[in-house]
Amino acid sequence: MNYKLIDLHVYGDERGKLISIEGNKNIPFDIKRVYWIFDTIPEQDRGCHAHKELEQIIVAMDGACQFVLDDGKTRETVYLNRPDKGLYIGKNMWREMKHFSYGCKLMIIASTYYNEDEYIRNYEDFLKEVNA
Ligand code: TYD
Repeated sequence: MNYKLIDLHVYGDERGKLISIEGNKNIPFDIKRVYWIFDTIPEQDRGCHAHKELEQIIVAMDGACQFVLDDGKTRETVYLNRPDKGLYIGKNMWREMKHFSYGCKLMIIASTYYNEDEYIRNYEDFLKEVNA
């Protein structure tokens, strides 16, 4: 399975806490794009796609959600609910985002610019791609 949970170092003192992400230092790629998901709804799933090229790190800045990750052979579930954990997802991994808490805020750090051509949005096509 091409994913892992990364423990992000927390700089904390009496003023509060701070986390820093730097490309190719504490995450394993150069950063090309950052986007965020917010105003989520619990019964509304998102994702349901894979990427041929993109790698990404997802951080639950606030709230929680469940990631279902699938490499075409195995399905695993990861629960994201802490701003000090980064979920790394590599290439060719099907992902579904489910069970968002109300107002969940996800920040996503991506290794490529947005390119719809490198998305696989159909699960059967994904299985063909990973089994080719
Ligand atoms: P979508 O891929 O459906 O989101 P999710 O994976 O969370 O289900 O993206 C929603 C819309 O936003 C879609 O029209 C594509 C657009 N979009 C961009 O224009 N740039 C981006 O960086 C991303 C991630 C999405």
